[in-house]
Amino acid sequence: MSFKLDVPSKVSIVEVGPRDGLQNEKTPLSVSDKVKLIDALSDTGLRRIEAGSFVSPKWVPQMANSHEVLTKIKRKTGVVYSALTPNSRGFEDAISADADEVAVFGAASESFSQKNINCSIAESIDRFIPLIQAATSKGIPVRAYVSCILGCPYEGEIDAEAVLDISKTLLDLGCYEVSLGDTIGVGTPLKTQKLLNLLISQLPVEKLAMHMHDTYGQALANVLIGLQNGVQCFDSSVAGLGGCPYAQGASGNLASEDLVYMLSNMHIETGIDLNKLINVGHDISVRLDRANGSKVGKALKA
Ligand code: HMG
Ligand code: MG
Repeated sequence: MSFKLDVPSKVSIVEVGPRDGLQNEKTPLSVSDKVKLIDALSDTGLRRIEAGSFVSPKWVPQMANSHEVLTKIKRKTGVVYSALTPNSRGFEDAISADADEVAVFGAASESFSQKNINCSIAESIDRFIPLIQAATSKGIPVRAYVSCILGCPYEGEIDAEAVLDISKTLLDLGCYEVSLGDTIGVGTPLKTQKLLNLLISQLPVEKLAMHMHDTYGQALANVLIGLQNGVQCFDSSVAGLGGCPYAQGASGNLASEDLVYMLSNMHIETGIDLNKLINVGHDISVRLDRANGSKVGKALKA
């Protein structure tokens, strides 16, 4: 007897390893190693790669070479190379490095907003408005992140209404998608379902993506909840690289290999070659001299 789960038949994956992953590595990776990583990722079938960020090098030194990285990668047709931009200065720098797309990043927690981008939520929106206007006039798509959707390292529980509020504002301002960030990985399936119930009652599900850090091993379970609610875009990081420098203890994002393994075994199309991705995850773990954060990568490479 065959049976099917009611989930999308196709999903889009945003590879955030070169940004979310490497921003938290103790040893900054050289331009040539980053280029090697991104070029290898481009060859796996991934269609969306976050290649760096244009933030203050005093705050995140690991991303200081993003301009050089973006100008040196081998652009593969059909692949969108994006960058994180906190303000107009970051946007201009990203454009001069030929970023195909940019992402603004806000939070549902006031304390996290202050620690991460040194301003309140309202001030962050004021900074995003001219950036989004400039991007729109140049035809550059703007993605948005909302951090702390299921908990904050400083405030604990976060009101779902606060997540809805900022997500709605960012979509109304012209962002084409909001990536919901479980920054410290405290989400569990019940909490995720409760939040999605509210968000999906007010916002189009096609405009929502999920960005689940795997600190407590709950990311895949939360992705499954997202799929069952019709979410069609998920962020992940090769070899589970990374964390967030302003969220102590936050481990990497869900490993891309683990996500692709689950999706392909559910017959959900991603267009990604799992074996190639596993090799990229293995190589970058060796290069960084760190344990591979992907369970699938470890199992299949053994
Ligand atoms: P600030 O200190 O409030 O801003 O920084 P400022 O306007 O006073 O500028 C201070 C200095 O930064 C000045 O330089 C500016 O020129 C410079 P100085 O005069 O001191 O030499 N500056 C910049 N330099 C380069 N690029 C720029 C830029 N803007 C100003 N774009 C700012 C505000 C946002 C820039 C700062 O707080 C910052 O860079 N924060 C880093 C935030 C960050 O990268 N966090 C990690 C990424 S977010 C994340 O990981 C979460 C996510 O994955 C989702 C999730 O998991 O939840 C997305
Ligand atoms: Mg993140």
